[in-house]
Amino acid sequence: MAAPRILLIVGGGIAAYKSIELVRLLRKAGMTVRCVLTRAGEQFVTPLTLAALSENKVHTNLFDLKDEVEMGHIELSREADLVVVAPATADLLAKMAAGIADDMATTLLLATDKPVLAAPAMNVRMWLHAATRRNVATLRGDGVSVMEPDEGEMACGEYGPGRLPEPAAIKEAIDKALANPPAIVPLAGQPDFAPANHRPLFGRRILVTAGPTHEPIDPVRYIANRSSGKQGFAIAAAAAEAGAEVLLVAGPVPLPTPPGVIRVDVETAVEMAAEVAGGLPVDAAIMVAAVADWRAADTAPRKIKKDGSGRVPPLALAENPDILAGLAKSPERPPLLIGFAAETNDVIAHAEAKLARKGCDWIVANDVSADPMGGESNRVHIVSKDGVDSWDRLPKQAVARKLMEKIADELEKRTPLERD
Ligand code: CTP
Repeated sequence: MAAPRILLIVGGGIAAYKSIELVRLLRKAGMTVRCVLTRAGEQFVTPLTLAALSENKVHTNLFDLKDEVEMGHIELSREADLVVVAPATADLLAKMAAGIADDMATTLLLATDKPVLAAPAMNVRMWLHAATRRNVATLRGDGVSVMEPDEGEMACGEYGPGRLPEPAAIKEAIDKALANPPAIVPLAGQPDFAPANHRPLFGRRILVTAGPTHEPIDPVRYIANRSSGKQGFAIAAAAAEAGAEVLLVAGPVPLPTPPGVIRVDVETAVEMAAEVAGGLPVDAAIMVAAVADWRAADTAPRKIKKDGSGRVPPLALAENPDILAGLAKSPERPPLLIGFAAETNDVIAHAEAKLARKGCDWIVANDVSADPMGGESNRVHIVSKDGVDSWDRLPKQAVARKLMEKIADELEKRTPLERD
């Protein structure tokens, strides 16, 4: 395997000196490292130090025309396997979240099509500030891996989270990201994957369910599960990219709506069932939601209080409608009906049983034994009456895109469209 290539963006701040040790560790592990220093970073480390350690030219100035001749900034942003920002200052994170490109580092970060890992370092107040919280949430929602900073005494004398993680910990996060690449924000018309003229689902209507459901116990409590919604949202995004009209029925998840997707938010399984029924007819339904199997039999109108006796209130459960099985039996059953199943053991056998029980056409069985829900990649097996199609572990976005190709082929067989 070729040596992994890292583009390391070194932001400003006292922690920038640790980037020197990071470059040393990465080089020792046989990685190729190319460094970019921000103007603030240059106050703390010299380009010469980084160039000597990385054995590569260090880039600082966007308008260095000679560099543009040697290598354009777009190319520079894409030749790496992973872009690492360490230290990622509050200012850099804010610019990344807002999509500002006003110097070499931020321009590369906006232009890249590669996964990005950020290791933050800043004053504790800055890390805990609502603006930084918001920026970190936005970046994570966009598929950027933002590490948690270390906690401890800071250069400024305050105490708390905000210290740059140790170089060894950043190296570990880099190894992980390389082995299991984080999802990248779906881009409308991204040339690598969805050229404008490759729209195999054009003229199709696709329904996707995603996320968990929340089943209320009283006004402040609910039953839920750990579904992140990422795979379902990636599927809705890929379906829209492939030209379909997409209805996404989403449980409560803080994810941005993919471009071109019509989204309806629901809380409970009963609401999800109603929105699914209201969205028919469709050419294909892809049921990715982790629907709660049970809800509270009675929802208390007021918050349930402890009465001081030590007695625990009983919680009676009622079974939720099985949306997928219901759709399979409905007169408006879509020509292609797909269920998802996250399993920890006997993945194929459970999926085959589920396929028969639910009456759908495919079960996309997802092996979650190594990686609980909420991860960035999936290893799936498409189980149908024709057999099992097993795919390598792929980023959730790649699973979604590959699935769209398979769905488009299957729909052409089942319900061919007349195209001129
Ligand atoms: N599903 C659904 N409605 C439900 C439960 C599940 O539509 N009430 C769908 C899911 O969206 C998924 C598929 O059925 O596509 C399988 O979900 P899963 O939770 O694995 O199925 P269960 O029948 O709940 O099986 P298990 O006993 O493994 O939880």
